[in-house]
Amino acid sequence: MPLHQGSAHSKEPSPEQRRLALNPFYGVADPVAGMEAAPPRHRMPDGPLPPNTAYGLVHDELMLDGNARLNLATFVTTWMEPEAGVLMGECLDKNMIDKDEYPRTAELERRCVSMLADLWHAPDPATAMGCSTTGSSEACMLAALALKRRWSARNADRYPATARPNLVMGVNVQICWEKFCTFWEVEPRLVPMEGDRFHLDPQAAVELCDENTIGVVGILGSTFDGSYEPIEELCAALDDLQKRTGLDIPVHVDGASGAMVAPFLDEDLVWDFRLPRVASINTSGHKYGLVYPGVGWVLWRSPENLPEELVFRVNYLGGDMPTFALNFSRPGAQVVAQYYTFLRLGRRGYRAVQQAARDVACGLAAKIEELGDFRLLTRGDQLPVFALTTKPEVTAYDVFDVSRRLRERGWLVPAYTFPAHREDLAVLRIVCRNGFSSDLAELLLEDLRLLLPELRAQPHPLTRNENAATSFHH
Ligand SMILES: Cc1ncc(COP(=O)(O)O)c(C=O)c1O
Repeated sequence: MPLHQGSAHSKEPSPEQRRLALNPFYGVADPVAGMEAAPPRHRMPDGPLPPNTAYGLVHDELMLDGNARLNLATFVTTWMEPEAGVLMGECLDKNMIDKDEYPRTAELERRCVSMLADLWHAPDPATAMGCSTTGSSEACMLAALALKRRWSARNADRYPATARPNLVMGVNVQICWEKFCTFWEVEPRLVPMEGDRFHLDPQAAVELCDENTIGVVGILGSTFDGSYEPIEELCAALDDLQKRTGLDIPVHVDGASGAMVAPFLDEDLVWDFRLPRVASINTSGHKYGLVYPGVGWVLWRSPENLPEELVFRVNYLGGDMPTFALNFSRPGAQVVAQYYTFLRLGRRGYRAVQQAARDVACGLAAKIEELGDFRLLTRGDQLPVFALTTKPEVTAYDVFDVSRRLRERGWLVPAYTFPAHREDLAVLRIVCRNGFSSDLAELLLEDLRLLLPELRAQPHPLTRNENAATSFHH
């Protein structure tokens, strides 16, 4: 096999046949020897490589990934303190499920659940049930499974013989809710967007409910535009439904981002277990919980909300420990990092970090509005996230052009179209997180200012195509 692809004497190899290109310096002592065996790309190499060679090859390839700190598409944490990184490194070898072998890690998980129960006003934090997960997707599935199981227990005479369960939610839900409905055969009932209402309307949600509704999902805050759904009004509308019809339908709050923002910045907003109808809440520890990817949380207000038959028992210090999870093995490092962050910041620290993110979001949104070409859909004053579109009179370029041109400068700002009833609307969304400072926001604004004359001089929008929205993941 030739050392370099495409040499004058060789036939061009197919992508599958191509080999990784070695740098002579990767040879341990003798650079030439280090170049003798270029490993294949798509087949496991026949033999081993020295660790520094393997490291160099992988490291070099990853340099072409985007810069995580400039990724304004993601809600997920892209910066933690070095001390958190050290702790996580120390725990990389711990499996979260081995509660018996790693009892202190298990204890830290329990403490995090208690802290969240208290933060979210569980009536009795000592008896609230909860667990860590790999993220909000798994947490939402567990919560929805509990809703389904409670509904099926109440309707054992009809299910599965004649009744089909449904789940009511806004069309703006994150994809994990569609996954749940597909995987567990539940009919999704989606409240559409209407005009400038981009999330769930309580009255419209109630109208979709019937005796087969396992629950209603309220989102704090919407992935599309960062707006909080009106959870208190939703509960009131369901209270009214119960008065009128006897139907008692629980609410799950998908607080993937907002459940770690609202408790610190919007203390007067009533959205959590203070509302008796809220049966369960999830959050992503790895979003505004401020931990690197791989941790979520789900809590139930009391043991009655989590059917016992869904809970499995694992050995824990000779006793048994209840667990409820879709997977078995999972890293312990993220849970440890969550505990570290709770301890490190406390309520005042979280408030300061989230307020800084909100200040950056609101400030940047206002300055972008001042540029004159854009209309803000949200202003960053709920989640530190805002969505914007071009004004109707802007015809030379569109949001997909802006996204593409910003990407040339290193900024990852997704552009995407809205769902049913508002497919006509295409937006940019900017997620401000800890680590995206006002200085960085100023640089983004500067780049946008510099690009605008070129965008305005275009004959027409240039980017829009089927793949234009690929950087947005609902
Ligand atoms: C409202 C909402 N729910 C659920 C999820 C899924 O979260 P995760 O990525 O932690 O699985 C997201 C992710 O963006 C979200 O915004």
